[in-house]
Amino acid sequence: MKIKTASFIISNTDVNKCPKDAIPEYAFIGRSNVGKSSLINMITDHSRLAKTSGTPGKTQLINHFKINNEWFLVDLPGYGYARVSKKLRSGFQGFIKDYFEQRQQLACTFVLIDCRHEPQKIDLEFMEYLGENGIPFSIVFTKTDKIKLSELNKNIAFYKRKMTQGAWEEMPKYFISSASASEGKKEILDYIDQINVDLSKL
Ligand code: GTP
Ligand code: MG
Repeated sequence: MKIKTASFIISNTDVNKCPKDAIPEYAFIGRSNVGKSSLINMITDHSRLAKTSGTPGKTQLINHFKINNEWFLVDLPGYGYARVSKKLRSGFQGFIKDYFEQRQQLACTFVLIDCRHEPQKIDLEFMEYLGENGIPFSIVFTKTDKIKLSELNKNIAFYKRKMTQGAWEEMPKYFISSASASEGKKEILDYIDQINVDLSKL
C-alpha cells in the first residue's frame, strides 16, 4: 500500500471524543520507549507525524492520524513507565482501557515488544487482557537494528516458547521492525491493507 496522505487529526484522553468516522483504525501500544511513535513515522514516511523522544513517557494522549483518508493510525501512551504510580505502571491509565474496550472501529492493535528483551510480565499480561476482551492484535518486535540476526531469531524463538507455554495455543502473528533501518514497513502496511479490504467486503 502506498501512503498518499497522513495527517494529525486530534489528541485526547476520552474515547468519546475520538473521531466518529466509521473507518478502520489500527492502534500502536507497548512499553514506554519501545518505539511506537517512531514506527508510525516510519511506516507513513512522515518523520515528524508522531512525536518521539529518547525519554520514556513522551506520548501521553490518544493521537489519531488519518491515512489516505481511509483509515486511522492511533499512537497511544506507553505502559510500564517508571515515573508514574505503581498502580498505573502495572495496569495502565483508565482512558486507555476505555479506548480498547469501547472503540468499535479498532480493527487491529499492534503490540510492540523490544526485540532485545526477554518476555516481560507486563507485555504478556497486556496481551492476555486483549485476548480476554476479544481485541485482535499482532506483535511487532522493534529495534531489530540493535541486535544481530542470530540473536533476534533466538529471542523470537524464546518468545514463542514462552507464549505457547502460557496462555496461547499458538504464537500470534508477528512482524519484525526497525524504525532506523525502515524494516517491516511493507509487511505491516500490506497487512493493514488486507484487513481494510476484508472489512470493506462485510
Ligand atoms: P513513549 O511515547 O514514551 O511511550 O515512547 P514510544 O514507544 O513512542 O517510543 P519512541 O518512538 O518515542 O522512541 C523511543 C526512542 O527509541 C527514541 O530515542 C527513538 O529514536 C528510539 N527508537 C525507536 N525505534 C527505534 C528503532 O527501530 N531503532 C533504534 N535504534 N532506535 C529506535
Ligand atoms: Mg510515543
